[in-house]
Amino acid sequence: MNLKYEPKKIFDVSKSQEMFKRALNVMPAGIYGHLGPSEGCMIPVQSYPLYMSRAEGAYVYDIDGNRIIDYMCAYGPNFLGYNDPDVDAAAAEQRKKGDCTTLVSPISIDFAEELVSTINMADWAFFAKNGGDITQFSVMIARAYTHRKKIVLTKGYYHGVAPWMQKLGYSGVTEEDLANNLYIDWNAPEQFEALCKKYPGQIAAFIATPYMHGNFLDNMIPVPGYWQKIRKICDDNGIVLIFDDVRAGFRVNIKGTDFEYGIKADLSCFCKALANGYNISAICGAKKLLNATADIAYTGSYWFSAVPMAAGIATLKKAKAVNAVEENIKKGKKLTDGLAEVAKMNGFDLKVTGEPAMFYLRLANDYPSTILHQEWVAECVKRGVFFTSHHNHFISYALSDADIQYTWEVADEAYKVIRKNHPDYEGYIK
Ligand SMILES: Cc1ncc(COP(=O)(O)O)c(C=O)c1O
Repeated sequence: MNLKYEPKKIFDVSKSQEMFKRALNVMPAGIYGHLGPSEGCMIPVQSYPLYMSRAEGAYVYDIDGNRIIDYMCAYGPNFLGYNDPDVDAAAAEQRKKGDCTTLVSPISIDFAEELVSTINMADWAFFAKNGGDITQFSVMIARAYTHRKKIVLTKGYYHGVAPWMQKLGYSGVTEEDLANNLYIDWNAPEQFEALCKKYPGQIAAFIATPYMHGNFLDNMIPVPGYWQKIRKICDDNGIVLIFDDVRAGFRVNIKGTDFEYGIKADLSCFCKALANGYNISAICGAKKLLNATADIAYTGSYWFSAVPMAAGIATLKKAKAVNAVEENIKKGKKLTDGLAEVAKMNGFDLKVTGEPAMFYLRLANDYPSTILHQEWVAECVKRGVFFTSHHNHFISYALSDADIQYTWEVADEAYKVIRKNHPDYEGYIK
């Protein structure tokens, strides 16, 4: 590894910070939800650019004029690169014909066929807008099919923001919202088996992300045989197995993450990378669930919009043509191996967890404190490498070797800065 020791420019983000103050007057939390600082993943918020002027490829340009290498990828949707020309051309072509119209476009069938031929478990597809639309729907389908109420979730889950997907104590959530939820630990199929014995004939669904990619904790890959055991327990007890592939979908295996982990889910939920930023989500299902799904009243004003469907088809076709999933995995591995090596060179211990194209970082020297980690992330952000402190990151196909090299150099400088700023931590750093 050959690093250039030229000091990097420290970003001025004052326009973003001013804009944020303006937003706080007229918008709840200024920037509500995951794109803003209220989730606690942007610390200190004063280091962060918050508003973009434009985006291109692997970069976002902020309103202060800084170019940022974006490792959050809009929290998943940027998969091939912002403004991918092939995806945008397909979307523009469809826009000329129509988008949200009284008669649906046949492109909806094309997209469903594309998904059925791409996703290993899929016999059919249904489209909506957001990930939460379809995780909600998946549970309704399971209940309609089994005539049961209870669902099993794995701790560290995130399936969206409907009340049942949130936690007791969260604002606006009642005990009744969660009354049918049962929880188990990750990689603990025996706990699922115990619940099946305790609630015989009452569990409709097991819903989980393919691996544990929660915030504020190291991400966890399923142990060998885990999903096979869960699949068998579902089959033995007539329970619908739901894969929430909203985030990991197309970042592990183009055929679905259940395929990668050696099983077939009954329902798989996709969003994020599905149309490279055009707003659409999809649920794919097994044939046995088709009629139960057709019986449910579930729709939305924009769910048949044709433009995102055209974008989705183009995204999948291009991803296959350029092997985007495999390439992104390679890029993620190269980047994170290098980041860990640069950490070691500076006396730090960087833990990298999760799948390579969706890596989670944690600087472990001062564990269980997160002070060094947060400060290192902030020093990277100030130099144009957009990480967040307690959320997994994403790789886009547009990320180049030069971007990776620049990221290593920024990381190196950031390690040196925090080391200098923290003589009090010398005992922790090798
Ligand atoms: C695993 C998972 N499921 C569901 C959702 C909800 O998706 P959306 O925010 O599009 O409703 C998300 C969003 O981050 C997610 O990561």
